This record gives sequence, structure tokens and C-alpha cells, in this order.
Amino acid sequence: MYFGVVSLFPQMFEAVTNYGVTRRAHERGLIKVNCFNPRDYAYDKFKTVDDKPYGGGPGMLMKVQPLCDAINAARKDAPEGTKVVCMSPQGIALDHSLVARFHDWGSIILVAGRYEGIDERVLQKEVDLEVSIGDYVLSGGELPAMCVIDAVSRLVPGVLGDIRNAEEDSFAKGLLHYPQYTRPEIVNQQSVPKIILSGNHAQIEQWRLQQSLIRTYERRPDLLKSRGINKLEYKLLKEYLQSKNIQDVDKILMTYLGR
Ligand SMILES: C[S@@+](CC[C@H](N)C(=O)[O-])C[C@H]1O[C@@H](n2cnc3c(N)ncnc32)[C@H](O)[C@@H]1O
Repeated sequence: MYFGVVSLFPQMFEAVTNYGVTRRAHERGLIKVNCFNPRDYAYDKFKTVDDKPYGGGPGMLMKVQPLCDAINAARKDAPEGTKVVCMSPQGIALDHSLVARFHDWGSIILVAGRYEGIDERVLQKEVDLEVSIGDYVLSGGELPAMCVIDAVSRLVPGVLGDIRNAEEDSFAKGLLHYPQYTRPEIVNQQSVPKIILSGNHAQIEQWRLQQSLIRTYERRPDLLKSRGINKLEYKLLKEYLQSKNIQDVDKILMTYLGR
């Protein structure tokens, strides 16, 4: 998976290439992260990359020419037809399906803004999509771009020891991950649920599915509604809701059935 990155702070991406799962992926050539710094394409004496906004107002904007030149250098380095995605609080929300789409592309160029943002004409001419990591404003697009790189890398075959890790992660199948436990069996008088010590794989699988359903129902009913549930899932959720003495369980669950 190729990641071209356009950023005034390329060193920040060492957080991706030097640590953990993404470091190993980078070392093994499963992902490539190539950075392009607009400052290298600023040709005046001071290597200026920002300027005041027309019409006045606080802050500075990234200048058109150095940014466009850096994006075009990234395009030349990337596989032909690679799409350019700009990190922006005004973009569409990053979620699992968008991460999966980026992975399917096989290559992507990520543009990290700085200052008060980017001249609109760069967005219109050079950018295919604007993507946000949430409804808050950060000082730069580097952290959002790293979120994309990290999340997409996890889907690249071989990056995680076992691809089932990514498949079982929250959102991959429209559900949140079930609760997990490791040794020791008892900590502070809290013990691990008996069933996962049973060695009965079928029962463990079913328990995990039920826990995922419960979590999603309680924490993210919106996810469950848009995903829908099948008959077995209906039965597992019903069992749980009845154990909590919730009334009108069928009426509630009918709204989640088979989408
Ligand atoms: C200070 S922000 C500019 C915010 C801009 N003035 C606005 O209100 O939309 C500088 C850069 O950080 C990045 N950024 C900030 N918040 C972000 C978010 N929630 N998601 C993605 N990128 C973000 C963008 O690349 C943006 O160009």
C-alpha cells in the first residue's frame, strides 16, 4: 500500500514508520510512506509557504504554488491515477467503510494542511476528496493523515499477524468488539467469564457474538440499526434483554431485523 504524504512536518510521520505494527509493515515493505514537503518547492529566499488571506482576518493560509508543486511531485512518485485526499475538518467523516475503500485503492496521497487552512483553489483543482477525523479542529493535518495510514495499514494482508484480528475489530462487521480478558484468571476479585475458559469453541464464539451485539446495542444502536440483525442475533439479543426484564423486547428488536 502506497501512502504519499504532503506535509510541512514530514518528521512527524516517523511516529508511523518507527513504532509498532506500522513500523514492522514499513520495514517489510508492506506499506510505503513517502513524504513531500511544500517548503522544498518554495523558491523565494525565505522559502515562504504561507500568506495572508484576502479580505483580512486572523491567521495565514498555505500558498498555492509550493503546495501544488509538492502534490504534483507526490503524483509523479505514486502509481498512476492515485487519488489525492486532503485532511480537513470540513471533509466527510472517516469511518471503517472509508478506510476499507482507501485500502482497495492500493495507493493514496494525503495532504496535511497547516495554519488556518489551504487556498480553496488547491482544493478545487488538486484534491479528489476531503476527509475529517471528527468534529473538532486540530492544528494540522498530520495526525489525521497518520490516523488514515494506521487504520488502512491494518487491512493490508500480512501487516497484522493474523488477518482475523482486523476482521474481528470493532466496525469491521458493523459491530463493536466483544470484551476481552488475559491472565490472570482473577484480578481484584474480578474473574474472567467462565465460558471463555471452557475450551468449547462453539460456545465461546456464540458468547462473543452475543457480547458484541449487546455492546453495539447499548453503545452504538445506530450501527446496529444500519447493519441489521439476523435470526440468531435476534435470539441472542432477546435472551439478554429478557434477562434485564426489559418490556416489549420483540417490538424493540423488530426494528433491527434483517436489513
Ligand atoms: C487549524 S486547521 C484549519 C481549520 C479551518 N480554518 C477550518 O475551520 O475549517 C489546519 C489544518 O488541520 C487539519 N485538520 C484540523 N482539524 C482536522 C480534522 N478534524 N480532521 C482532519 N483534518 C483536520 C486540516 O488539514 C487543516 O487544513
